[in-house]
Amino acid sequence: MSGQASELRPIVVAANWKMHKLRSEALEYLEDLGTWMDDHPRGLGTRVEVVVAPPFTSLELAVEHRPPHARIYAQTMHQSDQGAFTGEVSPAMLRDLGVDGVLLGHSERRQYFNEHDGALSEKVVAAAEFGLRAMLCVGETLDERQGGRAEDVVRDQLQTALSDLDVIKATSSGLSVAYEPVWAIGTGETATAEIAQGMHATIRDVLGSIFTAEIAERIPVLYGGSVKPANAAELLGQPDIDGALVGGAALEVESFSGIVSAGLDLVAGAGV
Ligand code: 13P
Repeated sequence: MSGQASELRPIVVAANWKMHKLRSEALEYLEDLGTWMDDHPRGLGTRVEVVVAPPFTSLELAVEHRPPHARIYAQTMHQSDQGAFTGEVSPAMLRDLGVDGVLLGHSERRQYFNEHDGALSEKVVAAAEFGLRAMLCVGETLDERQGGRAEDVVRDQLQTALSDLDVIKATSSGLSVAYEPVWAIGTGETATAEIAQGMHATIRDVLGSIFTAEIAERIPVLYGGSVKPANAAELLGQPDIDGALVGGAALEVESFSGIVSAGLDLVAGAGV
C-alpha cells in the first residue's frame, strides 16, 4: 500500500456546488477562491489539485474566471455527442465550453434521475473520448451497509461503469473515483476514517482487477460525505484516501479553502 502524498497520486479537493449559486454568487466565489489560491501557491496544481463543479448555468463563467490551477467540472452529462435528448448536455458541448471534466454517477443523479450503471459505462468512455476527466462516484445506501452489502455494491458499481474503458485511457484520461456513502451525504454523519480507508482499499483492489495494480496506484480515490475543515486532515491522512468531494462545506470559500489547506499541510508534512 502506498502512503498518502506519494508521488503517484495528487490530492484532489473538489467542490460540488450541486444546484446552488446564481451567476453573481458564482463569480464572487471564483474570484475569492482565486485570491486565496494566489496566496497559497506552494503545491497547488501539482501535489494538490482543486476542482470546482458548478451547475450548467455557471459553467462558462467558471471557465472564464477559472482560479489559477483549478479545474472546472460539470456535474453530469449525456453519453451521446448530439441528438434528440431534450434537457441534456453532451460531452462535445462541455468540451466546446472549455470544461475540464465531469462528475459521473453522483448518488443524487442515481437516486432522483434514474442514472444507472449501464449508461454510466457509456458516459465514462464518452468522457475519455472527448478529453474530459471523469470523476466516477460510487457508494452504498444505509440499507445496503446495514445489510452487510456495502463492498459488493461498490464493487459492482465500479465493475459495471468501468468495464468498457480502455486500460490506457484509465490513467491518460484523468479518471478519478469518489467514494460517497449515501448515508453520509448532507447528513453531518461522516464515515469514520477507518471505515472510509477500508472501502478505499477495496476500491483500489477492484481498480487493480479491472485495469492493473500499477494503474490502480495512479487513480485518485476521493472520499465524499460531510467533509469539513475539522475532519479533513484525518480523512486525507489515510493511505488510500486521495482527496475529498465536498458539498455543503464547499459552498463558502472559507470552509472549502480550509479543506484544501488540510491537503497542502499533508503534502508539506510529507516533504513532497
Ligand atoms: P456533503 O459534503 O454536503 O455531505 O455532500 C457530499 C457530496 O455529495 C459531494 O458530491
